[in-house]
This record gives sequence, structure tokens and C-alpha cells, in this order.
Amino acid sequence: MAKASTQFVCSECGYVSPKWLGRCPDCGKFNTMAEEPIAPAAPAGKGASAQRRASVQPVPLSQVRYESYERVSSGISELDVVLGGGIVRGSLVLIGGDPGIGKSTLLTQVAAHLSKTHRVLYLCAEESCSQVKLRCDRLGVNSDNLLLLNETCLENAEEAFFEAEYVVVDSIQAVYTETLSSAAGSVGQVRECAAKLMRIGKSRGITFFIVGHVTKEGTLAGPKVLEHIMDTVLYFEGERTENFKILRAVKNRFGSVQEVGVFEMTGEGLRGVNDYSTLFLSDSRGEAAGAVVTPGETGNRCMMVEIQTLMARTAYGLPRRMPLGIDFNKLVLLIAVLEKRCGIPLSQQDIYVNAMGGIRLIEPSIDLSLCAALASAEKMRPVDKFTAVFGEVGLTGEVRGVAFAEKRVNECVKMGFRRVVLPAKNAKACEKFKGKIELVPVQYVSQMIKALFPRREA
Ligand code: TYD
Ligand code: MG
Repeated sequence: MAKASTQFVCSECGYVSPKWLGRCPDCGKFNTMAEEPIAPAAPAGKGASAQRRASVQPVPLSQVRYESYERVSSGISELDVVLGGGIVRGSLVLIGGDPGIGKSTLLTQVAAHLSKTHRVLYLCAEESCSQVKLRCDRLGVNSDNLLLLNETCLENAEEAFFEAEYVVVDSIQAVYTETLSSAAGSVGQVRECAAKLMRIGKSRGITFFIVGHVTKEGTLAGPKVLEHIMDTVLYFEGERTENFKILRAVKNRFGSVQEVGVFEMTGEGLRGVNDYSTLFLSDSRGEAAGAVVTPGETGNRCMMVEIQTLMARTAYGLPRRMPLGIDFNKLVLLIAVLEKRCGIPLSQQDIYVNAMGGIRLIEPSIDLSLCAALASAEKMRPVDKFTAVFGEVGLTGEVRGVAFAEKRVNECVKMGFRRVVLPAKNAKACEKFKGKIELVPVQYVSQMIKALFPRREA
């Protein structure tokens, strides 16, 4: 009988089994066994390993030389920003996101731009060549330097990779390697294919763009299992039905992970949006209770984002908490702070929160504005449309200082806001804006509530 070349390893505890099992006998978890190739045994003989060890030498820090990263523009300035200033030669870039959000469109545009000066290969494992050509026609692309290959087996496509400088793999879930017998798209296949692409890329200096679909759970067989192999991981956010898409760097060995790019899907492909100033604000701002604007910071820019909340009396025992674009735990925590520290009753209210425009807010600096929006909705009193709020909130109800306070206030001034509620700790640094905008420094959440919702005269 032929010796098995693969084994199944539990991704939770590392248990090894020669055959697939639904449940790991060691840790008891279900669906965790992933196929892996068995590494060939090290060559026998002392001589070989001694020779190999002699060539392994550590280098003193002072003698390590800088590598200069050659960067090439992708032709889309928003993407260059997210990549940290352009595409780095020989890097592995993963673009993740829900199906239909525009990953193939973006990479077709990038491939088209690069093909003006370089040899580019587009490995279309999901679509046929004619489908890709159809998209190219739509995007107005035509080039002889852009090669299409419809192949799902990596070993068969390998030869073609060597000819190109840039390769787009669309998508990693659709390709497979012959070393494993499991189906394309399984955890083992996705990981092994990515590792193979990395070896090819690093040894030959080929730049890979890899498309990865996010599954419903966001993890299984998705881009999550290969984040550690990649140099750069970008995620497309936003609803499929919405025109604006946000590209966010979640890992970048050559740049900041704070960067965000804003794109608009048009009839001629994705277009970078430079004028994002009013994108995340509603037209009827300031009219309804429960909406507050906060200056969000993304590394290279500030954007004013509106947070909207809606409250309705709980019909059943347990109140609902439904945040969109905001962390669930953050919302629950801030509700508790408002109840306990400010005496605002929220335990009998269903609460819905939404960050405008489909953006995801992850900074701690949005805490205070979320509190303001919740208080505004509960009191049914709108917040003035020219007032912005930012600051981090602690469990004791104190308002902590945040990073980039000056930049945020500056953005508020630029956008025509007249008043900004900010942490007292940041007030000193922002004094220079005093003539241009009213600064309301607060130390506690309760102070912010008093400032925004003063007692009405009887
Ligand atoms: P696509 O890039 O294929 O999504 P993904 O590869 O992430 O699954 O397509 C995204 C959607 O965009 C698709 O529904 C068609 C639409 N689209 C446009 O609106 N304009 C265009 O120019 C193109 C090429 C696609
Ligand atoms: Mg696609």
C-alpha cells in the first residue's frame, strides 16, 4: 500500500490523525480537523545537517542593512494610500470581503494599470476568461501585457506565474494544490495554497494579489486562516447594495493599519472618493433626536461620522441591543455607564444604533459621542447640528483623553462646526482653535450631558 502523504491535524489542539474525523477525540471540538501534507523526513547522515548548521549565522544589529522597498503605484490613489504608499515588489496582498463587493473589479483595474508597464497574469479560477474580458470591456481595458489564465490547479499554473511580475489569484478558495486530497476551499487547501504562493513569490520576487471570500462566520476557510502568511491584508467593508465601499488595512508589514480608502462603485468600475467630507453625514442632521457627529481618525485623515440611535419601549422582557458598525460589547458597556453614572433609564428600551454610510467605527474616541446619541434619544432632544463630540469613556464615567485631538478639532473647524465637546485632558492642546470654535472640555460623562441638554427654564 502506498504511504499516505497527508494527515489530518486538529486546528484547536494539534491532535494528528491519519483520517478525517468529525470530532477531535482529544479536545472534543467538532469540525476542526484540517488536512495537511506530511513534511518529508530530514535527510539522514550527520554530515549534511552539520554543514547546514554551519551556514546559519546570526548577524549583529548594527550590521543589518536596510532593504529599500520598491513601490509601484496601483493607478488608484485611494488604494495606494491603504497600501501605505503603493505596491511593494514581491509582497503578498490579500483582499478580503463579502461576495459581490467589488474585489474582482478592483483587481482588474489594478491589473490593467500595471499591465501598461509590466507583465501581469490574472488567474481567474472562479470565472471564465470571457467573463473577465467582459468586465475588462466594461472598464475600458485592453492590453496584450495582461494575460488571463483559467485554471484551478496551482501546479498547472505555476509555469505561467514565473513569466509574470504581478499575479492576481481570484480567488484562493477556488484553487487547489495536488499535495492535498481535500476539496478546494477547505481550511487545509486554502492554507497550503497560500503557503505555496508565498514560496513562489518570495523566491522569484513576484507580487501576488490574492482574493479571499469571507464566509458567513467570517472565519472558516476564509482569509482569517491565512492572515499570518500575508504581508498585507485589506478588507472591503460596506453593504453590497450601498454605493460606497470602504477598504481597510487590517495588517500591513509596509505601512499603517489605520488607513482607510473610500470607493464608489460606478458603471465604469470602482472610483476612489476624495471628497468624503459629507459622505457619513445625513441631510436631516440636527432635526431628529438621537444623532450626534464625531470626528473619526483613520491615520492619514479625519472624517466626520454621524451616529444615529433609535429607542423603542421593550415589548417583551429582555430589551434588544442592535448596533450596526459599532461593537456590541461597547454599546452594552456604555448603556451601563449611562444608567449607573448618569441616572438615564435604558433598561426598558430596545436600542438600535447605526454609524452612517456603512462605516465601521472601532476607535475608543467614539464612546462619548455614542453616549451623547443615546442620551439624546432617551431625552427626545436633538443635538445641535453644528456640535461635534469625541472622547473615550471609562467604566467610572470619566472621560479620557484620546490621540490626535488637534487633528479632530481642526477637522471640525474645517467642516464648519461651531462647538466641540472634548475630553478635558485634550483641551489644552486645542486652545489654539479657541477663536474659531467653541471648546467644551468635560471630565465626566454627566458634564457632557449637562452641556448638551441644559435644564429647560420652567
Ligand atoms: P465583483 O468585483 O465581481 O465582486 P467580487 O469579486 O467581490 O465578488 O462585482 C461587484 C459588483 O459590482 C457586481 O455586482 C457588478 C458590479 N459592477 C459595477 O457596478 N460596475 C462595474 O464597472 C463592474 C465591473 C461591476
Ligand atoms: Mg469576484
